[in-house]
Amino acid sequence: MKDLSGAAEILFSSRALVVLTGAGISAESGVPTFRGAEGYWRNYRPEDLATPEAFSRDPALVWEWYSMRREALSRVKPNPGHLAIAEMEDLVEDFTLITQNVDGLHHLGGSRKVLELHGNIWRVRCTVCGMREMRKEPFETLPPHCGCGGLLRPDVVWFGEMLPQEVLEEAYDALGRCEAILVVGTSGIVQPAASFPFIAKGKGARVVEVNPEETTITSVADVSIRERAGKALPAIVRIWKENIA
Ligand code: OAD
Repeated sequence: MKDLSGAAEILFSSRALVVLTGAGISAESGVPTFRGAEGYWRNYRPEDLATPEAFSRDPALVWEWYSMRREALSRVKPNPGHLAIAEMEDLVEDFTLITQNVDGLHHLGGSRKVLELHGNIWRVRCTVCGMREMRKEPFETLPPHCGCGGLLRPDVVWFGEMLPQEVLEEAYDALGRCEAILVVGTSGIVQPAASFPFIAKGKGARVVEVNPEETTITSVADVSIRERAGKALPAIVRIWKENIA
């Protein structure tokens, strides 16, 4: 409770807040994380499924994995953690949500502005003409093709690829302005997101971490809440609201 009040105090006393999320925020919706005991990378090798080389080698195999994830995601809902983050957007004037997740659950949870660092699993991109569009319905055949005849790919960032430049610039701007950063459900292993809490801290921001496990970010955290996001974040929002009432 002391940690929760400490975390809430850091957040509500900040005029500019960044929230950075990873797979752990969606875990309580039933979406597997990447590195935990039940994580995707326990059963699959990223180099077979999440690299441009894997896609050139076997686009159907890569698409099968993404179709399986899309199918699973079509049946899940945002959880109280997503909803609490959506509420925070209305509680602070300068708010930026940065996510590494491609699942779209922050939008479904009511977050209006989301910087999706690794793209969106529901969007496709043509490898020939560059057409991009949201495509929620399942594909009849894999791999799917564009009207121009080119191969479509998921509009996500794979290992070894550049992150979307505009999104990255907005993220760095927000990190430069923020007075606090709340880091939720990321192991802090994949760059550049893993460096964001350190960048913010270096510019004087305070760091709050919500994660049941210790991570690389713990060393820089002013407060670490060892709790599930779906439990901790609504509690933080409750304390925050009591203080503005
Ligand atoms: P990871 O799977 O590496 O880490 C998930 C984190 O969530 C772990 O630290 C867990 O302890 C934590 N966690 C689990 N359940 C939680 C809960 N209920 N509440 C809060 N935290 C919880 O996922 P990411 O750090 O997001 O990239 O992984 C980063 C990137 O690596 C992903 O975007 C993906 C992956 O490979 C690409 O595919 C490019």
